[in-house]
Amino acid sequence: MKKRVAILISGRGSNMTALIAAASTEDYPAEIALVVSNRPDAAGLHRARADGIPTAVIDHTQFGGDREAFEQALDRKLGEYRIDIVCLAGFMRLLTPWFVERWSGRMLNIHPSLLPRFKGLDTHRRALAAGVKRHGATVHFVVPEMDAGPIVLQDSVAVLENDTEQTLAARVLELEHQIYPRALRAVAQGLTKV
Ligand code: GRF
Repeated sequence: MKKRVAILISGRGSNMTALIAAASTEDYPAEIALVVSNRPDAAGLHRARADGIPTAVIDHTQFGGDREAFEQALDRKLGEYRIDIVCLAGFMRLLTPWFVERWSGRMLNIHPSLLPRFKGLDTHRRALAAGVKRHGATVHFVVPEMDAGPIVLQDSVAVLENDTEQTLAARVLELEHQIYPRALRAVAQGLTKV
């Protein structure tokens, strides 16, 4: 039985697209059963619909700052679709410990740095400023602390002399599109190391 996966997005959804493409192959151990966005205008929603994936919008602004009510609506939606694994892919909401605990060991995130370095935002700019020679991306299980949690897979690229934030981000994004499908495959197969 393939694992049923929901991808949570807030924006363009290029990692989502990579996961959908990987999961469209017959031998992949997971199927993308749902894409959820907290923003009605997320570009990724169009792409998911074009690929025939069910989508849902749970607009956090409709919950008047009540994070738990938002997450309960989200959790109900995931239940409706009998979701086994949640993949955060550019989902720009912090999740409460309640939701994180509920999905503990079943929720992945991708972060554009070699964790534990450069948690948070603007990772490429900060990596350039720090002068690191390699930079990359990490897929990890989600725990209550942001950008922490057991690492499933990470990979890196060389930082080049003339890299800008944009060129570095583009190379890391390509890497993200490779490692997220591999990490999800491993997790769906019940392996945590790739
Ligand atoms: C990616 O860089 C991901 O690592 C980060 O947010 C970005 C989302 O990009 N968490 P996309 O929406 O998948 O194109």
